[in-house]
Amino acid sequence: MAGGSAAAAPERETWTSSTGFILAAVGSAVGLGNIWRFPGVAYESGGGAFLIPYLVALLTAGIPILFLDYAIGHRYRGAAPLSYRRMARPAEALGWFQIVLSFVIAVYYAAVIAWSLSYFVFAFDLRWGEDTAVFFTGEYLQVGDPEVSTTLVPGVAVPLVLVWVVVLAIIALGVSRGVQRVNVVFIPLLVVAFVGLVARALTLPGAADGLNALFTPDWAALADPGVWIAAYSQIFFSLSIAFGIMVTYASYQRRRANMTSSGLVVAFANSSFEILAGIGVFATLGFLAHQQASTVDQLEGLSGPILSFVTFPAVISEMPGGNLFGAVFFGALVLAGFTSIISILLGVAASVSEKFGLAHRTASIVVCGVCAVISIGLFSTTSGLIALDTVDQWANNVGIVVSAIVMTVLVAWVFRTAPVLRAHLNRVSTFQVGRVWYVLVGGLAPVLLTYMLVERVRTLLTEGYEGYPTWYLALFGWGAIALVVVGALILTLAPWRDRDDTDFHAWPELEEERR
Ligand code: ALA
Repeated sequence: MAGGSAAAAPERETWTSSTGFILAAVGSAVGLGNIWRFPGVAYESGGGAFLIPYLVALLTAGIPILFLDYAIGHRYRGAAPLSYRRMARPAEALGWFQIVLSFVIAVYYAAVIAWSLSYFVFAFDLRWGEDTAVFFTGEYLQVGDPEVSTTLVPGVAVPLVLVWVVVLAIIALGVSRGVQRVNVVFIPLLVVAFVGLVARALTLPGAADGLNALFTPDWAALADPGVWIAAYSQIFFSLSIAFGIMVTYASYQRRRANMTSSGLVVAFANSSFEILAGIGVFATLGFLAHQQASTVDQLEGLSGPILSFVTFPAVISEMPGGNLFGAVFFGALVLAGFTSIISILLGVAASVSEKFGLAHRTASIVVCGVCAVISIGLFSTTSGLIALDTVDQWANNVGIVVSAIVMTVLVAWVFRTAPVLRAHLNRVSTFQVGRVWYVLVGGLAPVLLTYMLVERVRTLLTEGYEGYPTWYLALFGWGAIALVVVGALILTLAPWRDRDDTDFHAWPELEEERR
């Protein structure tokens, strides 16, 4: 390592206010996961009964690990690799695991934003026509077989290029001038748009039946480990925790900042939005069932991308004033998607900038450029939907869960930094973290997550996924995880430029106070 000490480095850029930080963190949390994923996952995983594992996951792992992310980023003041390294040198590898995982998630996440952008435009003249399934998979995505396709679909590639240009512009502008400003405008807009959407949905005939379908509990589902895995995975993805994003966001928070109270606001806002999305989507599906003189249970396509891009357009076409409703729904998906993808990529750009001594703007151009090429090359082809579905399944249910297990075990058992981190949170925050946090972070979370991971891996190995060929799952599913591991190793072994943290004192003024 070469160069000057971190103590002499210029002070890190910060969010300009706590509200700025909270809006950015809510922006990161509220994303496609809330609108695109939660309603379908909840419906498939026991309806009303799903709220039990969901709340258990939020309280036992979601909020405790959100606090852990905040503590690491805020105390060690770097993106994930640098923060973990400052905590304990070998832990840098975990930081890179999380950052490469973020990279993988970002490349497909952008594609869903691109679809939403297209559908925002399509809503104005209901371009999807009568058969929305044929339109989505045929005319729009031109889906072929599970294969490595090189045939680009221009209708997806063009909006995808646009998404990458906008993402690059926002990230290159930096934390306060780029990311914070966008969130300060987008988040209130998103809330107003979404509340309007849900209010309209609740006035549609059949809305109550939709809510009954979503909230009627199927208690037997609680005995299924798959339902619990779905709840924990949903919480991790949705709160943007355990993949480096919140470590990075917290590292830009001012030194004197109420971290845990902000965390509670973010977690509450995220779950409220998620449940609101469930209500809005299912009230609307109730209307569709009513129009077709059937029941919600008899409708098809109530999960995954099909729910948003096939079933929803079908409802929009049936609805008086559907164009406006559709434009607001897909516009909301675009806004929510942008505020999340910029958080995912800010962490990647910041990590590259810190490790390789690059200016923030240069690192942003390199990271977004590489992501854009891969994203367009893989996900705007005729096999884009299948690739996306596969990578998403592995990144979420394997990648993030592995990351959370390793993170909690390292902090609680290997490097034993949990007491330092708890003391840090309590020193700067009004809401005090009790000793129960050790039990949750060091005990319950890793044990439960390990059990669930083993179950999930066993299912994926024995049953495969969605009937896709084994070679395909090996390449895009397990291959994505292998890429994350190998990428993390290479990036950890690469030498640091212009940084020598041997004398890193993150909190000189607090040391002073203690004396
Ligand atoms: N937290 C983001 C989402 O829910 C990634 O989509």
